[in-house]
Amino acid sequence: MARQYGTPLYVMSEDIIRKRIEDLKQAFDSTGVKYDINYAGKAFTNLAMCRIVASEGISLDVVSKGEMLTALKAGFPTEHICFHGNNKTPDELAFALEHQIGRIIVDSEDELEALNRLTTLKDCRANIMFRVSPGVEAHTHELIETGTEDSKFGLPYVQAREIILKTKKMPRLTVVGLHCHIGSQIVSDEPFVIAAEKMIDLYRLLQEDEIPLGELNLGGGFGIPYLHKDEAFDVIKYIPQMVLRIKGLCDHAGIDLPKLIVEPGRYIVAESGVTLYTVGTVKKIPGLRTYVSVDGGMNDNPRPALYGAEYEAYICNAKSSSIMETVTVSGRACENDILIDRVDLNRPEVGDTLMISNTGAYNYSMSSNYNRYPRPAVVLISGNMSGVIVKRETDDDLLRLDRIPKWLSGEQHV
Ligand SMILES: Cc1ncc(COP(=O)(O)O)c(C=O)c1O
Repeated sequence: MARQYGTPLYVMSEDIIRKRIEDLKQAFDSTGVKYDINYAGKAFTNLAMCRIVASEGISLDVVSKGEMLTALKAGFPTEHICFHGNNKTPDELAFALEHQIGRIIVDSEDELEALNRLTTLKDCRANIMFRVSPGVEAHTHELIETGTEDSKFGLPYVQAREIILKTKKMPRLTVVGLHCHIGSQIVSDEPFVIAAEKMIDLYRLLQEDEIPLGELNLGGGFGIPYLHKDEAFDVIKYIPQMVLRIKGLCDHAGIDLPKLIVEPGRYIVAESGVTLYTVGTVKKIPGLRTYVSVDGGMNDNPRPALYGAEYEAYICNAKSSSIMETVTVSGRACENDILIDRVDLNRPEVGDTLMISNTGAYNYSMSSNYNRYPRPAVVLISGNMSGVIVKRETDDDLLRLDRIPKWLSGEQHV
């Protein structure tokens, strides 16, 4: 792949993406409940990915007009698109209404009022869900019940009922359900059940208020093993367990089990992707460490810099006889962009192809042109076929949007 398409290069496996989606379906199918899977497009979106998701018959979560446009251009069925975001612009809301996007996930009272005005103005209707911040926050190994619901996302739990009741005077808006998203890299069903308990309490109250709810979306966040030692969210084990416990909560609350929706992004794409780089320099600092610099970095993978995310790497062309060395893999941005602080590699040499694994989620989608580096291409592998699904940016792409204003156009270097 590196020889054929050049580096840096994102390589995605269609087979693994489909396998992850099939595993999710299998886990839910085994429970016999009504469900839907919304792929969280923020993890990795483009036309080809939208085609894969559509062909699997699952839904898509988008957070911007750009993601909506991509889905529409790929022919994604609009009724299966859910539109998220804590500050959707009037233009984005109007676009969603014009294209009859399946669900608009309302994130605030202001947004509710904006939607009410827009649907009245356009004389149209919308199916909406409310994102609620249940005061439960889950990280990889810890679960925090914050109580304060201190989040820029969603309606604060304590105000949610009152705000949602306002829709009774908004006949163009149909409230089809509630939504929450409690975090990422969650590796057990427990946090989802705790969040579900709070959401079901609210759901029950709203049904008593005659709000016609039928869906409960518990968000994404299923964890994946970035490192060999990491735990993962075992969907086949945890989803049936989670559904059973939520059924119990609904029975206890005296309500019918809503259609359950989950919204994984990372789980579906992270393990399907790797990034290939070429080693440019190997700098041994005696008594300190060896820096192996590659031809990418925080531009194509900002996660280590943003979150201290950890990855594993391999030298693809290593000879089995080569000695292992502990090195630091760094990028080439003008920042201390360490991709991996310590990793054992077959002694790296200039020109080697280095692969970082599990880069399918939040890498391409978070990439940037910092330092005016072009973004890498994305290649999709399917069985024994491969093809470019996003072209490598060119020098022209880097300059495409630049303009010189009139007052600078005659300026010369003096
Ligand atoms: C509302 C919502 N749904 C789903 C996701 C997907 O999360 P993950 O990729 O961890 O599954 C996110 C991630 O930020 C989110 O904000």
